[in-house]
Amino acid sequence: MRVAFLGRKSELSSINKSMGTLDDQERKRIGQKLNEVRTAVSGHLEEQGDRALRLEREARTEDERLDPTLPGRKPRRGRLHPLTQVTDEIIDAFVGIGFKVVDGPVVETDYYNFEALNMPPDHPARSMHDTLYVETEDPGTIVVRTHTSPMQIRVMETTPPPLYMVFPGRVARRDEVTPNHLASFMQIEGLVVDQGISFADMKGTLEVFAKAIFGPGLEVRIHPSYFPFTEPSAEVYVSCFACDGSGCGTCRGEGWIEVMGAGMVHPNLFKAVGYPEDITGFAFGMGVERIAKLRYEIHDLRTFYENDVRFLERF
Ligand code: DAH
Repeated sequence: MRVAFLGRKSELSSINKSMGTLDDQERKRIGQKLNEVRTAVSGHLEEQGDRALRLEREARTEDERLDPTLPGRKPRRGRLHPLTQVTDEIIDAFVGIGFKVVDGPVVETDYYNFEALNMPPDHPARSMHDTLYVETEDPGTIVVRTHTSPMQIRVMETTPPPLYMVFPGRVARRDEVTPNHLASFMQIEGLVVDQGISFADMKGTLEVFAKAIFGPGLEVRIHPSYFPFTEPSAEVYVSCFACDGSGCGTCRGEGWIEVMGAGMVHPNLFKAVGYPEDITGFAFGMGVERIAKLRYEIHDLRTFYENDVRFLERF
């Protein structure tokens, strides 16, 4: 609009150019008028321009106004997975009596997973651990560990006694997945090696664990069993926390629940790592999902891995 009314090709401008043809008096009169009109038009344009800017700014302010009274969007708060919670609780119980926690590799050599644990090739106990092999140039030598027991060897190879340690971690077996079995699960392994360690020390230690996890009134029972890497070997039971030992659905009427394998470390393991001959120790291993299942009365282990938030939020 400014160009149209006041520019070089505007009407006002052409009047200005034709001023030369007028006589003095006329030129003065027209000149004055011309100035009046130019000032009026220019003033009006400026005013309208300011007004347009102001209106636009007001509209934008209104448009972008923040309403602090609107309810906020609350971020959903996460939590530790129940298996992590149970693992932490179990580890806490052992740390409380002086144990250290050590991590180890999930992929192992045949040597650590089997051989050094007194399971030479063709040992029948290997079949209970049918495993997943990693493809390598030398087939059948690298496995996904079937238990956390290889950590016993790894730690003893590099650390002299005394040892008071737990090894949490993931393991895998070539198992069919059912409500009671998973192909990939968590274990917590324990190892104690020191002068004069006895079977009684083992039982007392496991009692501390059982009472911390299942309740202070519990009893622990030891049953003979077999593991290649312990001698003697034991299955460890706790009195049923659901019925106090009188027999119920949780303990299948037996009053006792099996919670782990354990035993005195087999002398062949000490030999494999070059420990002195007079040393003794005990070891134990438990499945975290099984402990969590008992603890929380879960009927299907697979629910721990389905990641249904409605399930996870209960813990
Ligand atoms: N490694 C065994 C398994 O996965 C569990 C186990 C039993 C570990 C006895 C031990 C032990 O340390 O002494 O079935």
